[in-house]
Amino acid sequence: MSIIKDPSLAPSGKLKIDWVRDHMPTLSAIRERFRQEQPFRGVRIAMSIHMEAKTANLALVLREGGAEVFATGCNPLSTQDDVAAALAGLGAEVYAKYHVSDEEYTHLLVKTLECRPHLIIDDGGDLVNLLCGDSADLGSVLIGGCEETTTGVHRLKARAEAGLLPWPMINVNDARCKHLFDNRYGSGQSVWDAIMHTTNLLVAGKTVVVSGYGYCGKGIALRARGLGADVVVTETDPVAALEATMEGCRIMPMSQAAAIGDLFITVSGCRDVIQKEHLDVMKDNAILCNAGHFNVEIDMQALEEMSVRSFPRRENIQGYELPDGRVLNVLAEGRLVNLAAGNGHPAEIMDLSFAVQCLSLEYLLRVGTTLDKAVYAVPDAIDRAVASAKLQGMGLAIDSLSGSQEQYLRGWEV
Ligand code: NAI
Repeated sequence: MSIIKDPSLAPSGKLKIDWVRDHMPTLSAIRERFRQEQPFRGVRIAMSIHMEAKTANLALVLREGGAEVFATGCNPLSTQDDVAAALAGLGAEVYAKYHVSDEEYTHLLVKTLECRPHLIIDDGGDLVNLLCGDSADLGSVLIGGCEETTTGVHRLKARAEAGLLPWPMINVNDARCKHLFDNRYGSGQSVWDAIMHTTNLLVAGKTVVVSGYGYCGKGIALRARGLGADVVVTETDPVAALEATMEGCRIMPMSQAAAIGDLFITVSGCRDVIQKEHLDVMKDNAILCNAGHFNVEIDMQALEEMSVRSFPRRENIQGYELPDGRVLNVLAEGRLVNLAAGNGHPAEIMDLSFAVQCLSLEYLLRVGTTLDKAVYAVPDAIDRAVASAKLQGMGLAIDSLSGSQEQYLRGWEV
């Protein structure tokens, strides 16, 4: 039995799912093939991804391919209750509610795993952590799974290096059709969409500090510049820092950036990027938010301990008053802002990411039992097939290599 907030919310969730489905043509083409071929007949799939409309569409495509789908969120603040209700009404088992405590969040993950899945989709590594820990018995028939995001991949690789990964996992994040578009242009749009909607403030003329110039940071910085912001980047990797300067951003350590920023966006996948010493020197009314997977990038505990009071300023904005009278504003409790205070990436972007997820799961089902207990790249053929289908859906054609061109590219003669 699904665990959702309120089944009567389903009609609004259904509208959201229908809307995104009409903007996810690559996934729709996969759905048609899956419907006919039924690759997942008899297969149980447990998924933990932000429970919003695009994810629901993914779950429904897998169901059309014959799978029994058991779905939960991957963040205590990112579930949309109406979408969860609609997905439950459309036949998936859903264990997801908005704004749950950490204990409830873990309980919902465990409920999802109780189906004893054959395949999993993880986003951040929480399902894998449970299956390798307290819920190990629920992984008895697991073939393997797919990981959606950078932070989850870090955790998987660390586990594999320690010899503690019990099944093959596919690194969907590093597929070209995922990180080049989802992390970069998806974050670039949805993070700004959430910040602007939540604050209703102007971006032009503000000093925006982006911490982490990886794929997500590049997209967020790019759009910040387009919106007229003065963009400062903080980094720990010298190459990424150099790249940021050549893109026109200012590079400096957080100890300097903290004092000049109007708006801070952490997106490094690391912890304690903004610490007490930084909070100490920030401007009155500075705004802080995080777009990295976990809420560990801003030291919220330090901020709470430093504050004389904390008070709501607007929906999803909490003010923290410091002893000297300055107020710092945190969006969405420091959880990833584009999902906790927004609708996530645009549908056209998730069309690519979730097409990669579908084809990677199908591949894993086919070959999973022959693979080592390691982290695998998405086969290049899947990347190319998804990109070709997307181009076709956009009505765009490209050239193909002639025989002599292929030979030229493979050889050393002019
Ligand atoms: P990435 O690995 O491409 O880039 C991270 C960058 O942060 C690197 O250049 C690294 O040098 C830098 N960095 C690490 N520690 C730092 C520190 N202490 N201070 C400053 N810079 C630091 O990772 P990517 O793909 O950009 O992902 C970043 C985070 O965003 C991850 O947690 C990922 O899971 C998450 N993510 C969030 C999305 C969203 O919708 N909000 C979408 C996709 C990923």
